[in-house]
Amino acid sequence: MIITIDGPAGAGKSSIARRVASELGFEFLDTGAMYRAVTWGAMQRGLGWDDVEQLVDFAGTVNLVWQDDRIYLDDQDISEEIRTPQVTGNIRYLADPPPIRERMSAQQRRIAVGRDIVTEGRDQGTEVFPDAECKIFLTASPEERARRRQQQLAAAGRVMTVEEILTAQNQRDLEDRMRPVGRLRAASDAIVVQTDGMTPEEVCQEVLRLVRSCL
Ligand code: C5P
Repeated sequence: MIITIDGPAGAGKSSIARRVASELGFEFLDTGAMYRAVTWGAMQRGLGWDDVEQLVDFAGTVNLVWQDDRIYLDDQDISEEIRTPQVTGNIRYLADPPPIRERMSAQQRRIAVGRDIVTEGRDQGTEVFPDAECKIFLTASPEERARRRQQQLAAAGRVMTVEEILTAQNQRDLEDRMRPVGRLRAASDAIVVQTDGMTPEEVCQEVLRLVRSCL
């Protein structure tokens, strides 16, 4: 069984998807981490952003492994490295070209074969798993998402204003909504969960209720 959770940056998809997976005894796939990992790998290798052919080859052959909620590229644990602003700023070079998305999507489908899985990203319910049994689109207003992000960063000792976060987030939302293939949008059969004013616990309970109704 496949449960997809898509939505914009900062909507809380990862933590909710992780919780839902653990409550149901499903596996969890963070496809944003996959795009981050190939971007980090391309940066390490010094690949040119305009050499799409080389980026496609790289994305098709890269060896990504998950273990205990950590992500490894060629045996190196890169779980922290992939979260830097530098990586975030370069993701579009790997997330935009359709041939790269094709390879990433194929890899995501291979990972899901024979498994019960909660998968989160931007295109899971639309492009990658159009026949998923349960599709959730998790969202919140840009301001609410930026405020939540600020609190997360503050807890990690990083100080940023809501305005700074909002500017970067708007840019990312725009890029995610504009790409020719796999763009950020709710599948026509997805249940949209608008989370403004809800606590993380309330969101989790609501998503679990919706998911259970699909089982
Ligand atoms: O979810 P996260 O913020 O880690 O994703 C990072 C970026 O990877 C997104 O902003 C988006 O550009 C890209 N992405 C994507 N398709 C997915 C997941 C993420 O294009 N399925």
